[in-house]
Amino acid sequence: MTNVKHVPTAAINCQLLYVSQTQASQVESLQALIAEHALPIILNIELVTEKLNQKRRQQLCHTATQPILLLDEKDKLSWLSDGLGVAPEWDKLQRRVVSAGRKSELLLQAAKITADSRVIDATAGFGHDSLILASTGAQVTMLEQQPLMALLLLAEQQRMSALANWQKLMSRLHIINTDALSYFESINNESVADNSKIVDMVYLDPMFPEDSYQDSKTGKGAKVGKHMQALHQLASPPTLDEERQLLQSAQAVVSQNGQKQGRVIVKRPQSAPLLAHQQPSESWHNEAVRFDGYFV
Ligand SMILES: C[S@@+](CC[C@H](N)C(=O)[O-])C[C@H]1O[C@@H](n2cnc3c(N)ncnc32)[C@H](O)[C@@H]1O
Repeated sequence: MTNVKHVPTAAINCQLLYVSQTQASQVESLQALIAEHALPIILNIELVTEKLNQKRRQQLCHTATQPILLLDEKDKLSWLSDGLGVAPEWDKLQRRVVSAGRKSELLLQAAKITADSRVIDATAGFGHDSLILASTGAQVTMLEQQPLMALLLLAEQQRMSALANWQKLMSRLHIINTDALSYFESINNESVADNSKIVDMVYLDPMFPEDSYQDSKTGKGAKVGKHMQALHQLASPPTLDEERQLLQSAQAVVSQNGQKQGRVIVKRPQSAPLLAHQQPSESWHNEAVRFDGYFV
């Protein structure tokens, strides 16, 4: 069965494979998500009845002319990148989310947020850091520029919202397919008379060159996980000029915070250069990553 949905011209064509007739309603709800969030994605939908083992997935990817999405028998949506299925898989973070606190999560030491906080994760990616941020009770607006990634996030939120013990956390995540700079610009142009729009923290985890993942002791390149490898096919690191704009406009967003001190937290590989060469107010690090805090 092939079914092409009509959406605006700059849309990305994606092949959506599903594995059982009984998934028709899941396929429909994916299309509904695309329409509701105006994602520029055209799904070319196909039911596959053959077994999709690793070898077959790799073959499919090598011959594909468009990204392939797979809705598996458990209704989990993944993106087949070089034959490997990559998906947000938020359920795998359950233990970290439940026990997340400033002792266990360096990000939360840096972020210093509470249940009253409003946070923007401006580079949502697979949403893993957003989940840790939202575990505090904070409201997290997740910005993701890549429509395909935004669809994976929305589908994951929908899937996880069906599980009773995840519902509250899911309701605190607000996913938007947009470029962070345009979003910041729109906020910075609004006058913030409305307290509910005040942002306490902006989190930035932009792409960085694949070779900047280095072990701080050996100086050798650390292995990049499959999620990051896949992301490198979609998104590139910002230029120095883009880094400057991103940091400056994020700082402008949190400076609308009135009496409270806002902060921008930037995630980097442990030994990577500073974002936009800007000296942070404080840094937190372990062997792998560094969080640079810019207090405003
Ligand atoms: C390194 S990944 C973030 C990983 C994420 N922290 C996580 O926990 O999964 C960077 C992501 O930010 C997105 N991104 C980069 N620049 C962006 C921008 N200006 N606006 C919105 N999203 C952006 C990329 O498409 C990519 O998905």
